[in-house]
Amino acid sequence: MTGNGATPILSLKGVNTHYGAAHILKDVDIDIYSGEMVCLLGGNASGKTTTLKTMLGYLKPSAGAVYMDGENVNGWSTAQRVGHGLTMVPENRRLFKRMTVRENLEIGAYLREGQTLDDDYERVFEMFPRVKERLTQKAGTLSGGEQQMVAMGRALMAQPKVLLMDEPSMGLAPVLVAQNFEIIKQINDAGVTVFVVEQNANMALSIADRGYVLQTGKIVLSDTSQALMANPQMRAAYLGDV
Ligand SMILES: Nc1ncnc2c1ncn2[C@@H]1O[C@H](COP(=O)(O)OP(=O)(O)OP(=O)(O)O)[C@@H](O)[C@H]1O
Ligand SMILES: [Mg+2]
Repeated sequence: MTGNGATPILSLKGVNTHYGAAHILKDVDIDIYSGEMVCLLGGNASGKTTTLKTMLGYLKPSAGAVYMDGENVNGWSTAQRVGHGLTMVPENRRLFKRMTVRENLEIGAYLREGQTLDDDYERVFEMFPRVKERLTQKAGTLSGGEQQMVAMGRALMAQPKVLLMDEPSMGLAPVLVAQNFEIIKQINDAGVTVFVVEQNANMALSIADRGYVLQTGKIVLSDTSQALMANPQMRAAYLGDV
């Protein structure tokens, strides 16, 4: 699936980003191939969310470029990238709290106005039966775990080819973290390419094919999940070894 001359479905090449004078991402190279689940690990403020924002076009690189299916998309708007199959589940879910669960799901499909969404709803309900039970409830009154389900459901409504997820396990109880990753795995098994940002390195590496490690804006390690789990540098810094 990787290498062999295949064109990555999404990649960053030599990407640098700035917030004003602050230089955040430094020559970041990432390749994600169709069908893979890849994780991006790193501590607080290492630039993980900045990487996702750059992929989606909320931030423009000061040098380097984002590619989708081999095409330089630096000039594309976020909506164009979403239209081309890129979707994000943001940090802290970011639901519209005063809107109902159904309205939040509908927003996920906003670029497909006029098309029937029945099949999309069915797919989301199949994966998250709980969401179906709560369609008329205001999103802000859901539990954290339920909000995460709605955030994932909303992203699936866009029929993504590549799903970007920013710390899906943040703030969830351990049992929900495991369930959450099980669902991410199912989404990936259904053919959606997944790029997941996590501080929970053990959990992420247990399901991802490969991982990248970001440290103060630079990729310092990249390998298969198995190799990263066995890497002493990795174990000491991120996997809880002393
Ligand atoms: N809008 C902004 N303006 C200025 N600096 C910013 C802005 N957003 C982020 N930064 C800075 O960029 C750096 C990287 O932030 P980023 O949000 O990408 O980190 P992160 O790896 O996602 O961290 P966390 O795990 O805490 O979410 C941080 O030092 C942060 O303060
Ligand atoms: Mg972040």
